[in-house]
Amino acid sequence: MSIEIEIVTGDASWPSVKPLFDLAWPREVVEKLSWGHVVFANPELRVIVEDDGQPVCHVGLYRREGMWKGRKTRIGGIGGVVTHPDYRRRGLASVALTAALHTLKDERATDFALLFCEPHNVDFYTRRNWKPFIGEVFAEQHGERMRFDAMTPLVSYLKRAPHEGEMDLCGLPW
Ligand SMILES: CC(C)(COP(=O)(O)OP(=O)(O)OC[C@H]1O[C@@H](n2cnc3c(N)ncnc32)[C@H](O)[C@@H]1OP(=O)(O)O)[C@@H](O)C(=O)NCCC(=O)NCCS
Repeated sequence: MSIEIEIVTGDASWPSVKPLFDLAWPREVVEKLSWGHVVFANPELRVIVEDDGQPVCHVGLYRREGMWKGRKTRIGGIGGVVTHPDYRRRGLASVALTAALHTLKDERATDFALLFCEPHNVDFYTRRNWKPFIGEVFAEQHGERMRFDAMTPLVSYLKRAPHEGEMDLCGLPW
């Protein structure tokens, strides 16, 4: 096993990670999920963990100027966190998440990180110091501003970490 971690451009690297997504989230499964019909943004960057050149773990990165309590805020989005079923419980998602947060921190251009997950994954993130965001989140869907409550929002501190109030993603969710 030869594990490598790289950070690559989002669009160009999509074909290499699509099989991982198809494996974790087959269309027939996704259709029944709370977020199955949500239109998501595409990540700007991806953290990819490879074993012998094959992607086995992925974290997507988004940079977004949103609004929190009526003021502009720079959000570092994290999404599409997935590990190949044969490679789970080896710390790969933890490593990829750490690399994603380091990337955002190094850029110094984001105030906090924000992700959305299903309720059964909340503990995984809170054990990694992510905190619940208990306010309301709005995002764009089909060209309209709508409440986004299909998943649970969690925040991670970079320069600050809002935990309540109204947050507008000012674009598609991730
Ligand atoms: C959620 C998910 C991404 C976790 O990926 P992972 O690579 O297994 O994550 P990690 O290995 O870093 O951590 C998983 C658990 O394995 C444990 N673990 C890590 N290394 C380990 C090792 N060497 N031996 C045994 N257990 C280990 C971790 O402690 C962790 O448990 P904890 O949360 O109780 O601390 C993965 O289960 C997955 O792809 N699920 C389906 C898609 C999904 O739901 N994604 C989340 C979207 S928000």
